[in-house]
Amino acid sequence: MGVKWMSDNILVLAVLGLILRIAEVCDGGITSSYVRNKDLARDMPLDSDVFRVPPVYNAPQQVHITQGDHEGKSVIISWITPDEPGSSTVLYWAENCEVKNRAKGIFLTYKYFNYTSGYIHHCTIDNLEFDTKYYYEVGFGYTTRQFWFRTPPSVGPDVPYTFGLIGDLGQTPDSNITLTHYELNPTKGQTVLFVGDLSYADAYPFHDNGRWDTWGRFIERSAAYQPWITTVGNHELDFAPDLGETKPFKPYTKRFHVPYKVSKSTSPLWYSIKRASAYIIVLSSYSAYGKYTPQYKWLESELPKVNRAETPWLIVIIHCPLYSSYVHHYMEGETMRVMYEKWLVEYKVDVVFAGHVHAYERSERVSNIAYNIVNGLCEPIGDQSAPVYITIGDGGNLEGLVTEMTEPQPSYSAYREASFGHGIFDIKNRTHAFFGWHRNQDGYAVEADSLWLHNRYWKPFREPSVALL
Ligand SMILES: [Fe+2]
Repeated sequence: MGVKWMSDNILVLAVLGLILRIAEVCDGGITSSYVRNKDLARDMPLDSDVFRVPPVYNAPQQVHITQGDHEGKSVIISWITPDEPGSSTVLYWAENCEVKNRAKGIFLTYKYFNYTSGYIHHCTIDNLEFDTKYYYEVGFGYTTRQFWFRTPPSVGPDVPYTFGLIGDLGQTPDSNITLTHYELNPTKGQTVLFVGDLSYADAYPFHDNGRWDTWGRFIERSAAYQPWITTVGNHELDFAPDLGETKPFKPYTKRFHVPYKVSKSTSPLWYSIKRASAYIIVLSSYSAYGKYTPQYKWLESELPKVNRAETPWLIVIIHCPLYSSYVHHYMEGETMRVMYEKWLVEYKVDVVFAGHVHAYERSERVSNIAYNIVNGLCEPIGDQSAPVYITIGDGGNLEGLVTEMTEPQPSYSAYREASFGHGIFDIKNRTHAFFGWHRNQDGYAVEADSLWLHNRYWKPFREPSVALL
């Protein structure tokens, strides 16, 4: 009797265990049932106010800034004068300071098929004070325009800092809503990490580079006042042999200068910066990344240099996600995952942000690095040394959302939803950071999904997952 009771209960427990195991393998996290507008949006018309050309002849336009050195004491200021070169000099001064400084930049132009660019100016201003508001002026005489930015605090392990995450933005009314929501988010982002696919100019006949210009004017209201740290996507390739355009990334690299040399990179498509308590590594999904390639060699030597006692938060931004459970672009990041995931785990990267998939998704901390061809170990497993992978390609471009998801939701996927939005990565100190995803349809303060991240170096155990619906 006793033996039968025991065997019955063992059987029940075994069945329950099997059910739980199946649930663990097959059922992931949350697939949001939120219903959104599926209509495709067109780009905003050329006479939209967001594309307005400054009303003075040859006035600087498309002003944008990015970090100019490795530590945050330098800024690269870029702008375009449409009619003639004008001046490449920047006048700048610290708030409450009488002394005005000058820095001389350079200008360049480029041709793309039947398009000739305006005069693209790039000027690096150096030796700035940390945590200081600076005003700057570009243009001269009656064309002068004034802007301002704030330098980051000195690099250190417990420096709070807030990054915004935007990807695949484009220039539709949805793009405008995304940028507005970012600007009005009460948790003020101080620097944008942009995960690729900027203007979508290549969607037009002959890759109409005039749409690069409209995009530059559209983002100026944010990018002239805070750095945008950019990574390239497939829409920056502008590779069109049929048009005679065979140099990949030509418009992007002419328009967006980045401080790649300070991290010993040989290409503006991959580089690193430190900012406050974060170490940010920018990678290119569309440049060679196999063994012995320049990007591989750079990343191999770069990761050991990260001093987590100085910059605890190690962030990687790329365009193509390594983990995504949407049908569109499924497994496109697989070859890079095979090459680099082992390093991401070994060096305890905190979070990998990607775009490309026009939706939002957040992963559990998982890795899939045990496979050696003969052992059959090729499934993601929970791994507290692994990054959280966040896809945030939901900026709102003209290609619309991707809504088709692989089913059932895989176990590595913690939350997924096809809605436009942006992210905020809010570093509190060396151990804690808060990530929030903000859906465009919600109020500015609402987080549709969120997570407290524990730093992988300083607090490497399981963090509570907080998903708010
Ligand atoms: Fe893309």
